[in-house]
Amino acid sequence: MSDSIIGAGPKRIDGQRKVTGEAPYAADHHPDNMAYGYGIFSTIARGTVTGLELDAARQSPGVIDIFHHGHFPELHRSPASMPQGNKVEETRLPFEDNHVHYEGQFVALVVADTFENARAAARKVVVSYQADDNAIANLDQGVKAHGTKKGGDNHERGDAAGSFDGAAHSIDVTYTTPVETHNPMEMHASVASWEGDRLTIYESSQGVVQQRGALSKIFGIPQEHIRVESPFIGSGFGSKLWMWPHAVAASAAARETGRPVQLVVPREQMFTTTGHRPETRQRMRLATDDSGRLVSLRHESINTTSFTDQYVETCGSVTKSLYSCPNLLVSHETTQVNRGTPTSMRAPGAAPGLFALESAIDEMAHEAGVDPLEFRLNNYADRDESQDLDFSSNHIREATQKAAEQFGWHDRNPEIGSMREGHEIIGYGMAACNWEAIKRECEARVSLRADGTAHVTCATQDIGTGTYTIVAQTVSDITGLPLEKITVRLGDTSYPAGPVSGGSWTTATTLPAVAAATREAIEELKGYATSKKGDFADVDSDSLTFENGQLTHDGQGVDYVDVLKGQRLASADGHAHTQGADDRYSYRSFGAHFVEVRWDPGISNLRVSRVVSAIDVGRVINSMTARNQVEGAIVMGLGMAHFEATDYDARNARPVNNNYAEYVVPVHADQPPEVDVILLDYPDLEFNEFGARGIGEIGITGMAAAVANAVYHATGKRIRDLPIFKEKLM
Ligand code: MOS
Repeated sequence: MSDSIIGAGPKRIDGQRKVTGEAPYAADHHPDNMAYGYGIFSTIARGTVTGLELDAARQSPGVIDIFHHGHFPELHRSPASMPQGNKVEETRLPFEDNHVHYEGQFVALVVADTFENARAAARKVVVSYQADDNAIANLDQGVKAHGTKKGGDNHERGDAAGSFDGAAHSIDVTYTTPVETHNPMEMHASVASWEGDRLTIYESSQGVVQQRGALSKIFGIPQEHIRVESPFIGSGFGSKLWMWPHAVAASAAARETGRPVQLVVPREQMFTTTGHRPETRQRMRLATDDSGRLVSLRHESINTTSFTDQYVETCGSVTKSLYSCPNLLVSHETTQVNRGTPTSMRAPGAAPGLFALESAIDEMAHEAGVDPLEFRLNNYADRDESQDLDFSSNHIREATQKAAEQFGWHDRNPEIGSMREGHEIIGYGMAACNWEAIKRECEARVSLRADGTAHVTCATQDIGTGTYTIVAQTVSDITGLPLEKITVRLGDTSYPAGPVSGGSWTTATTLPAVAAATREAIEELKGYATSKKGDFADVDSDSLTFENGQLTHDGQGVDYVDVLKGQRLASADGHAHTQGADDRYSYRSFGAHFVEVRWDPGISNLRVSRVVSAIDVGRVINSMTARNQVEGAIVMGLGMAHFEATDYDARNARPVNNNYAEYVVPVHADQPPEVDVILLDYPDLEFNEFGARGIGEIGITGMAAAVANAVYHATGKRIRDLPIFKEKLM
């Protein structure tokens, strides 16, 4: 086909079902005889449950059972490891004992005949606690109370300390980022039902295969006895990568009561028991020679983790390879606090890490007297010095220059506060963005059916990003079938195993498997066509081509439907299993953000008025969904820059703004009037046959730094602690 469907911008094929309410989300499922769970959550952050007064709740209408640490089946833990596909972040089981490690931890679960009855009864449960007054409320308290523990993904090369001392220019600065909470629109929910020792669970999940693995470990039953379904998800941003305690509680309650149980996590507890991006403190020490070349770079970060699990926010993951520097140190440490277990949130590590790195690069450029754009161009690495590997494909210089030109960076007057328009002071800032390209193992099945349709199954998920659509585009590209003839089914463990929808790896992982399965189906079809009874009985099947739904030989084409019908066959099928990435290259995506802010000192108003971002993610599969991803990430980056922070009461470690009203995210009025996304679209054919590296996360990286750098240019105030509230500029 001349106009390839790969790279075109067809609308999401699942879009209509979603906007008309036809698409079922987890809590839309109501199996017969379903009961409802409602949690009772700890009101202390540290201590023990000493008593539960349940009589009033038991007599409340419709109550079926009440679970707690004294009344809950004995289960097993699932190890926190990913390779076996059973990873959970919070390894402690709900109701495992009477210990409380964070405010908002499940301490009991009421099951009743209706949601209202369950909630009403839950409010009648009286829990008594022995509170430990030494609850650790934040990173500072954690470090003071018990110090830090070494995390993973550390790196050292050269002599970073030695080359820092006596360098021509240097900075030593510390940045902090607060806890951020994912807050997808669809709340976490499970609907669990058992038939004998077989469990079916509808879950809002970014990883059904992995949840099945974890449930298998926890309930001690074979994976084949468990089905996890998550066909539609109101996003997750990482909070739904791995199973959380509510899914275990719902599954156990369903088994014990003998009824399907639905359990929705209330918004308040989505701030406590389903993960968050942890708080970080990052010390940056950079030094250059006379000419502004980096000679030393140290990125040392500490992040908060829970008392139940070690979660490392790898803030220095990008620092290892973005800039050329012979002397470099990246270290990660954690400190325990009385909060729920943190987890990945869009661009884990890189999002807070590049706030620090790209702010520090801006500070270093100022210190060395070099324009921040020039500084980056002079210091970008041409190969991955941390792994001693070439990049498979890297167009960061072009991305930076293209975005700079489009933005008008060269009109920038470097003097602080010098650019004005009316009441407003204008600031220009920029930052690089970066994310690892990952490809995992995947299976997919494709059937070319006698009714003229194709049917694709894979157990990966579409979290709203457009996976359904790009899978259909892939099959269409190879077969020539139009999108409306292609049915895609995802998010169900009864399909061939697919990856977690995360890490920006779904495209690079899933498409090669779908393509291979499609080609296998075509091979099977060719086999039928060249069999004794076939339309091309005497032809070598290798000389047949498949185009626009026809098998063709020597200019003679037969519709594939006729090939199947002629032999009374329902379909030709292919099942493929593709492998993860090799280690011949360092596979990464690159880009740059340019941001204009306007600060009106008279009324203390700060706004982002313009963003130009150029992104190098390899080949773009769907120009519309790809652009949506970057635009969404830019908005989320603005949220990180300006608004987002989960506040914990320093006296008792309770999250206080645990709702949509007080946890502030950007609304329409906060959107920059102009957002310009440039997709470079250089296929990375070393990575996979499509040349696509994935696009979900890179757009948020560097965004907060670009804003902070622009704010500095406008106001002269260097904000090193996110978010950049207006109060900090007054
Ligand atoms: Mo992403 S944080 O891997 O959903």
